[in-house]
Amino acid sequence: MKITITKNEQEFDVTAAWRIIGQMLAKPDAVIGLSTGQTTIGMHGIVAAIYKQYPFDVSRITLFNVDELTNLPREYAGSCYSIIHEQLVKPLGIAEENFIMPPTMADDFVAEARLFDQRLAARGGADLQMLGIGWNGHIGINQPGTPFESETWVSPMDPIFEERVRKETGVAADHVLGGLTLGIKNIMQTRKIVLIAKGEHKAEIIEKAILGPVTTDIPASVVQLHPNCEILLDAAAASRI
Ligand code: GLP
Repeated sequence: MKITITKNEQEFDVTAAWRIIGQMLAKPDAVIGLSTGQTTIGMHGIVAAIYKQYPFDVSRITLFNVDELTNLPREYAGSCYSIIHEQLVKPLGIAEENFIMPPTMADDFVAEARLFDQRLAARGGADLQMLGIGWNGHIGINQPGTPFESETWVSPMDPIFEERVRKETGVAADHVLGGLTLGIKNIMQTRKIVLIAKGEHKAEIIEKAILGPVTTDIPASVVQLHPNCEILLDAAAASRI
């Protein structure tokens, strides 16, 4: 496990952006997994800005997101499809068939999960996963307690995140929400993981995930077992390690 600590948020965003661009340049048919959330807005903006100024060949690049909301329209601005489309797919002109996402609405999400795995496998699996971490250590949407052997599935959301989505969408309380997420096993199969966190509010969970025991109580702690993992932090997120 390699740990990179950047001096501030700006340096974090630029460094993280270069992890994505570096992968695209090193392997023009790379398969790259992304994460949504506050952590990734800045870095995605920098990728888009660099591409605009110095365009390069992205015609064979595949993008996907580690997770997606379920039972909400894809057009909802908070769906992972909409977010990544806006932040990267559109600015880089990635072809729609090279943006692999599960649907947000489906009759059979188990079948959709298998299809998603098959589509990734058909492209040789993921080269890089830019992996966010939630306040409770979740990765993708895999909440504490998720077995490390889990494969792409529909997980309940973290309750704080769910509350936000409910507020934003105004969905009825009895309307079940969840998220289709790569399982922990799938995340670990990625050839390279860059676990990303910035801000002081992530310092405690980073300490637990990186320095604590590997445990399903903290899903992100599993990355300690990955052979090619970088932990990329700003100084605030690294303040307890
Ligand atoms: C959500 C997403 C995760 C993301 C996490 C962290 O739960 N499903 O993929 O990593 O939030 O978000 P933030 O960067 O806003 O802290």
